[in-house]
Amino acid sequence: TDAFETTLEALRAGEPILVHDAADREGETDLIYHADAVTPDAVARLRNDAGGLVCVALGHEVADTFGLPFYSDAVDHPATSDHELGYDERSSFSLTVNHRETYTGITDVDRSMTIQALGNAAASLTETTFAEEFRVPGHVHLLKAAPDLLAQREGHTELGVALAEAAGLSPAVVVCEMLDDETGEALSPADARGYADRHGLSYLEGRDVLERLG
Ligand code: 5RP
Ligand code: CA
Ligand code: ZN
Ligand code: ZN
Repeated sequence: TDAFETTLEALRAGEPILVHDAADREGETDLIYHADAVTPDAVARLRNDAGGLVCVALGHEVADTFGLPFYSDAVDHPATSDHELGYDERSSFSLTVNHRETYTGITDVDRSMTIQALGNAAASLTETTFAEEFRVPGHVHLLKAAPDLLAQREGHTELGVALAEAAGLSPAVVVCEMLDDETGEALSPADARGYADRHGLSYLEGRDVLERLG
């Protein structure tokens, strides 16, 4: 079996995978789990081993069904009118959420509850009334994939959602950047690959995903 199939198998098994986007884009490696698999221990791993922002990427149709906009479209403030990113056309940020049964929303237990409920909601669109289950703002950042997914945007948002779909899972994944505590920068691809090897995890380049699914 090749590295790509092993990666899909890992996602289905609830294990994290690593995906580096591209040297000429963010140049970041995100630690990614399917949302269903995010236990409190997984949240602890994301903040301790990855260290970036813990986000849930949703498929475009899922986000639309739940009435979730792009943040920049939803907030009428002059600072949202021109969000020049150095690496892409626009940000995939949507709203931030907490599950209504959380207390502060930030603990590993609370974020795990929010994230697993998002995975569940993405798998049962018709049975979910989003506002009954979640409150906004919250402590989990939602990301909304581009309508045409990888044909339109090659971010971790789209890479993660496309991998979930290819694995036969609902389009809801957690992504979090691997940061380097020594340098204060993004973890280098070589070091991210080293982490993957030490922990027996799959590591893919964005172009490997694009070759198979783009
Ligand atoms: C949110 C981000 C991350 O890079 C995340 O991977 C989503 O962004 P993108 O789809 O642009 O890669 O900035 O923490
Ligand atoms: Ca750390
Ligand atoms: Zn990213
Ligand atoms: Zn980033």
